[in-house]
Amino acid sequence: MTSTPELRTDRLIIRDWDISDAPAALPVYGAEQVARWLTPEIRAVHDVEAMRSVLHAWVEAQPNLVPPAGRWAVVRREDGLLVGGLSLRQLPPYEEDFELSWHLRPDAWGYGYATEAGRRISAWAFDQGIEELFAVARPKNTRAIATARRIGMEWVGETEKYYDSRLQVFRIRPADLGRGAP
Ligand SMILES: CC(C)(COP(=O)(O)OP(=O)(O)OC[C@H]1O[C@@H](n2cnc3c(N)ncnc32)[C@H](O)[C@@H]1OP(=O)(O)O)[C@@H](O)C(=O)NCCC(=O)NCCS
Repeated sequence: MTSTPELRTDRLIIRDWDISDAPAALPVYGAEQVARWLTPEIRAVHDVEAMRSVLHAWVEAQPNLVPPAGRWAVVRREDGLLVGGLSLRQLPPYEEDFELSWHLRPDAWGYGYATEAGRRISAWAFDQGIEELFAVARPKNTRAIATARRIGMEWVGETEKYYDSRLQVFRIRPADLGRGAP
């Protein structure tokens, strides 16, 4: 995959990252309320320079990922504000399952943007031939868990097989899309 076609929803655009997004991405990944749930790489982002390095790595990696894996920016159509990011990754250790993850700048929480973007990227991933997607969340990450359910994901269990920590696992299949609450 060289680049993903831009995806649109009523309120959002999902597009590839660009390194020039660093200042706009910092309020997402530089926010403690967001980074605390994410990888050490993200927890180390405290300034635009660090954000640029992370985006550089994401942009470089994107063409070499196994489709539909990728990382995307989520932009509000109304005013062009970069409200967050999405990622679809192959879960370690076997890299058979794809994990969907959402990240919003804290002042964009509470509007349904993660749900809207999550549904759209899931539909796109299913169009690529994927039959199921997973989300994993720490038990205390209640907002992430609520979003997973809103998208239409179902709880399938608890595991320590990914990332060496105990996580709640959610799954969505094509027929589940849109089954969650609004
Ligand atoms: C997880 C995260 C993306 C959820 O953000 P969010 O805004 O709560 O998510 P949603 O898009 O599902 O929005 C739901 C909220 O918007 C409200 N909402 C308003 N309009 C809505 C609409 N059109 N559709 C759905 N929800 C709507 C809902 O009532 C709900 O509000 P509430 O939380 O006050 O009950 C955000 O908390 C975050 O970035 N967390 C840090 C990163 C993280 O943990 N990511 C997950 C890793 S597993």
